[in-house]
Amino acid sequence: MSTSLRMLPGPVMVAAGCGGTGRELLPFAGPTGLEGLDLVTRSITLDPRSGGTGPRVEEVSGGLVNAVGLPNPGLEHFLATELPWLVRAGARVFVSVAGATMGEYADLARRLSRAPGVAGLEVNVGAPDEAGAGLFEVREPYHAASVIAAVRREFPSDRPVLAKLRPDVSRVLEGARACHEAGATAVVVGNAVPAAFRDGRAGGLSGPAVSPVALRCVAEVHHALPALPVIGCGGVHDLASARSFLDAGAVGVQVGTALLHDPTTVARLRADLLPAAPPPPEETP
Ligand SMILES: Cc1cc2nc3c(=O)[nH]c(=O)nc-3n(C[C@H](O)[C@H](O)[C@H](O)COP(=O)(O)O)c2cc1C
Repeated sequence: MSTSLRMLPGPVMVAAGCGGTGRELLPFAGPTGLEGLDLVTRSITLDPRSGGTGPRVEEVSGGLVNAVGLPNPGLEHFLATELPWLVRAGARVFVSVAGATMGEYADLARRLSRAPGVAGLEVNVGAPDEAGAGLFEVREPYHAASVIAAVRREFPSDRPVLAKLRPDVSRVLEGARACHEAGATAVVVGNAVPAAFRDGRAGGLSGPAVSPVALRCVAEVHHALPALPVIGCGGVHDLASARSFLDAGAVGVQVGTALLHDPTTVARLRADLLPAAPPPPEETP
């Protein structure tokens, strides 16, 4: 296996923002708890964010529309409380980072590079509506790549930097190529799809409804860039939906919205997809 593949998380990860702080998942995580669980944190910003006002989530057929607005306690608080807890619980922690400026992304990467227990970073360059969320505008692949390069410069080269892209079929390949050239170890394809609540407010659609779109994006990226590891994300909720991403060339999947319906989903998928541990050697008398 190549070095970059060995650096990557396992075949099933918790998607950003959908596993709470990790504590909420613990009762549903199975007999080994969070031990060895590849978990992407909610997106962490330099300063605390209270998140969106108004109803944040609306159920629609096949998924959810959300405008959660990346609520998080900010980097200082995350480093002092949430990260140490996750590390003690045995999770492999991938910190999702989001910034208002390129400088903020670099600062987040530099400070997280010194924090014990950070397995890797996931850079959120695929939010459904960056400008509306007060984030650095990365709609252009060139801008997304500049963010990845800034993060890569500050984060040790032996730990992965994942670029999380929007599942925009018309531009995902361009984005993946640019982020790969900028130093991303792998791409996560994709995020929630730009959508609207029934009252017209902007939001992001997630859940099984987005799966076919994300699947098409994964297949196109894998076909054009076979050396770039792709992690599929969008509507994974059972073994068949996970397998469809793996069959399209993904090295792994992330599970988001399904956890809000059934928090045992990741534990079940890990049991199905992780190779069974070899039996213990027989004792010799
Ligand atoms: C309630 C909620 C909160 C989310 N928070 C984040 C976040 O903080 N950062 C991020 O990159 N993606 C976030 N996402 C997007 C998910 O990680 C995932 O990419 C998207 O929902 C598609 O996957 P799914 O259909 O399995 O949910 C969030 C999604 C939901 C539904």
